[in-house]
Amino acid sequence: MTGRVVRFHETGGPEVLRIERLDTPAPGPGEVTVRIAAIGLNRAEAAFRAGRYLEVPRPPARIGCEACGIVEEIGDGVCSVAPGDAVCVLPAFPMNDFGVYADRAVVPAAALIPWPPGLSASYAAALWMAYLTAWGALVDVAAIAPGDIVVITAASSSVGLAAIQTANLIGALPVAVTRDPDKAEALRAAGAALVVVSGEQDVATELRRHFGGRGARLVFDPIAGPGVQALAEALDAGGQMILYGNLSEAAERTPFPFFPAVRLGLALRGYLVFDLIRDPVRLERARSGILFGLNAGSLRPTIARTFDLDDIVEAHRYLESNQQVGKLVVSVTG
Ligand SMILES: NC(=O)c1ccc[n+]([C@@H]2O[C@H](COP(=O)([O-])OP(=O)(O)OC[C@H]3O[C@@H](n4cnc5c(N)ncnc54)[C@H](OP(=O)(O)O)[C@@H]3O)[C@@H](O)[C@H]2O)c1
Repeated sequence: MTGRVVRFHETGGPEVLRIERLDTPAPGPGEVTVRIAAIGLNRAEAAFRAGRYLEVPRPPARIGCEACGIVEEIGDGVCSVAPGDAVCVLPAFPMNDFGVYADRAVVPAAALIPWPPGLSASYAAALWMAYLTAWGALVDVAAIAPGDIVVITAASSSVGLAAIQTANLIGALPVAVTRDPDKAEALRAAGAALVVVSGEQDVATELRRHFGGRGARLVFDPIAGPGVQALAEALDAGGQMILYGNLSEAAERTPFPFFPAVRLGLALRGYLVFDLIRDPVRLERARSGILFGLNAGSLRPTIARTFDLDDIVEAHRYLESNQQVGKLVVSVTG
């Protein structure tokens, strides 16, 4: 059967993405064919397309790691799902080997979890990357507690908003940092206890003014680069900074904030959600926590905009425009 598949033959801007009509291969051992309903877009995919990601693309490269859909066919040895099952695809594979920007995608069965009942396709596609990343860092790694102050940079991103909600679920106090003053109101409405506009305000100063001199227990930062110096000053003694993205062009030259780190006994570490996804015990703990939050109404993906698969170039342009507050979703079957 043929269907639309998004591929790129060279790295570059959004315009390198091409919609091609290709045969869907039969699933191999341990693999499953999923008829895609909706795709969650992630900044990692823009970085992969541009050749700025952990994984170097091998053109012609497929792309996309998060989606929801219906199982159509299973390969040898697959017993965890059956044709007709509604599933979410977790980002648990190299995009060079699999890619979900398509009508149909073959993915490893191990990357599938059940589509949460009652959730629309848009929400099901927008859920797991953002919330597993936030839950994994805030709860699984940093074990934040009620009353802790948590600084969340790039707070309007899908992960940033998931982190604001997760902090509130735990009873912590999320401080949202954005470069864009026009996003401040949306971030307050999303549950931020304080919004700081970087470039206009200093995070450490604003935070201590607002919280009676207290500093943060955790900084959760996907930007990296020179900004970590000032962010380290926002931490209290024994605080932790988790770096999880390279939005700054200078990310590879991120300085170590020596004086605050030594003075305050800070810990700085990197973090990838894939470590959590690969560990069945940690994944199950995070999954049940997130489902609890969903059912309680405390966690709910924020969908900034939905595009059609035919408009994938436009969707990537919008992703990189930084206008969004929340997740971009691509609808495939409508
Ligand atoms: N380590 C992991 O496992 C993991 C998992 C998921 C995502 N991530 C990373 O998390 C980050 C967010 O991903 P996402 O898909 O949620 O992103 P997104 O929804 O596309 O949001 C990106 C937001 O980040 C801010 N931003 C963009 N470029 C920036 C820059 N140069 N400096 C400062 N802020 C910038 C912008 O907000 P403002 O303009 O409002 O500041 C923008 O709206 C990405 O770096 C991604 O790679 C990592």
